Amino acid sequence: MNKYLAPSLLSANFYNLKDDLNVLSDENIKYLHLDVMDGMFVPNISFGIPVINSIKKHTNESFILDTHLMVERPERYIMDFKNAGADILTIHKEATIDFCEVLSIIKEQGMKAGISVNPETDIKTIDECLGIADLVLVMSVHPGFGGQKFIEETLEKVVYLNEMREKNNHKYLIEIDGGINIENVEKVCKAGVDIVVAGSAVFKNDIRKNIMQLNNIINEA
Ligand code: DX5
Ligand code: ZN
Repeated sequence: MNKYLAPSLLSANFYNLKDDLNVLSDENIKYLHLDVMDGMFVPNISFGIPVINSIKKHTNESFILDTHLMVERPERYIMDFKNAGADILTIHKEATIDFCEVLSIIKEQGMKAGISVNPETDIKTIDECLGIADLVLVMSVHPGFGGQKFIEETLEKVVYLNEMREKNNHKYLIEIDGGINIENVEKVCKAGVDIVVAGSAVFKNDIRKNIMQLNNIINEA
């Protein structure tokens, strides 16, 4: 299965978003990771629906908008994100009660449905919805901020998700998010992820060079 780099826009230059997005598109980036934070589920506020709407409108469908909702009770906003143009809508297991039901509603609305777990959440607590999830996002930092240190133990979840997918013939993609850089990306890929999110490692200094270096490793792993 192919592996993909998903740049997280959180670390982009918001004054220069168009130029940054043009570089990503030139470099054939497929998944664009969009971190939506509400100041409640996480102690930070990022960007939201109008920004996603505008990106969708102006990037001519170049990207799959991989929307990561760090929002309490995300079920309140499913239609808003659909209308804004989200392709994948990932919710946190910790942010709602009936997370399997929320995934079903996202799918009914024609989006891909993702489920995410925080570093301290037992991965087995989402077993019941692995059959319907299109994507499972393993948080490898505590959500809320870019530029944090990768938490090694979270790789065990990636291994578990691979075993479960194999055993039960599930179809979800496995994504990892937080603290990925040029030093650890090979190890992360070898653990069995399909999509690697990287924010600061992509957007600091030379974006094009960072993407090329990360992609070289991701494609070889
Ligand atoms: C953190 C976000 C991440 C973040 C990753 O809550 O979900 O997507 O932007 O940033 P880096 O790659 O810098 O850790
Ligand atoms: Zn994220």
